[in-house]
Amino acid sequence: MNREPLQVRGRVLSVDRAGEYHHLTLVAPGVAERTRPGAFVALAVGGETSAMLLRRAFSIYRAKASGVYGDTVEVVFAVHGSGTAWLADRRAADEVDVVGPLGRPFTLPTEPVPCVLVGGGYGSAPLFALAERLRERGCPVHMVLGGATERRLFGVLEARRSAQTVAVTTEDGSAGTTGRVIDVLPEVLARTGAPVVYACGPMGMLRAVAGLAAEHGVWSQCAVEESMACGVGVCMTCVLPVRDDDGLVRMVRSCVEGPVFRGERVLWDAVGTVPAGTVGAPRVGPGR
Ligand SMILES: Cc1cc2nc3c(=O)[nH]c(=O)nc-3n(C[C@H](O)[C@H](O)[C@H](O)COP(=O)(O)OP(=O)(O)OC[C@H]3O[C@@H](n4cnc5c(N)ncnc54)[C@H](O)[C@@H]3O)c2cc1C
Ligand code: FES
Repeated sequence: MNREPLQVRGRVLSVDRAGEYHHLTLVAPGVAERTRPGAFVALAVGGETSAMLLRRAFSIYRAKASGVYGDTVEVVFAVHGSGTAWLADRRAADEVDVVGPLGRPFTLPTEPVPCVLVGGGYGSAPLFALAERLRERGCPVHMVLGGATERRLFGVLEARRSAQTVAVTTEDGSAGTTGRVIDVLPEVLARTGAPVVYACGPMGMLRAVAGLAAEHGVWSQCAVEESMACGVGVCMTCVLPVRDDDGLVRMVRSCVEGPVFRGERVLWDAVGTVPAGTVGAPRVGPGR
């Protein structure tokens, strides 16, 4: 199977509201068949004469090869700034230039072990395709979905269909348990005995999930959302500090070596910096 990313002129099939989010479906020939769970697309925004030169990255929610309308790719997004506002204004048949699938996907377990999937806000979107692949491998799937409010949860009904158990949290108590995903995760790990946790959501949530998983001796895979410019490994905008197999810390590009990383490998407290001792970092202090 050829997994090389494509650049295609996508056509909008639909843009629907999903709580506080938008659910965009694009006809994008060839992208779906190359897509694995955890990959993302980079969408051009603003039209051909726009000054918004940088593509915007979005996790792939669903990718269907040869559906009724041809190959489709779906993303779920929050309006954040001018690029996502432009996307939210698209209508059926509008053109959106698509590059994808990009990035390294989630790694699947080799044994049919129970898995816990943790999604924060729209971060739950890429977990549904993962859940499907895990179920195909015989892995019991348990989901934990969290959001600040009920409207900032995504996919609760779908989760109830696709997972054996679902725990929901909201910070304001408008749905499920009042609190954050991290508050219910210890119970879910104990109840399911899962040896692996997959997570996608805000960096603070990923950091907490990775820390808790490590405390429980559980392997974690986290899909990060680091600011990106090129999306294809050229510009180094998206780097974050990651401990390598040899024990050394390197600044790693999340667009090509990620966005999925082993949770215990990321130096979460140092994201946004180049920590002392990082390979290639300038030495400071006496002796320079
Ligand atoms: C791998 C990956 C997957 C993502 N998946 C999703 C998703 O599924 N749904 C969703 O709503 N958002 C997702 N994001 C965040 C999304 O890319 C930003 O919200 C979007 O780029 C903001 O663009 P804007 O023009 O609306 O905002 P602006 O603030 O005008 O963006 C300006 C620039 O800042 C960068 N930027 C701003 N906010 C973010 C952010 N939170 N993360 C990364 N870069 C940012 C963008 O690269 C953009 O070029 C993802 C980001 C990455 C890196
Ligand atoms: S966004 Fe340019 S190297 Fe990752």
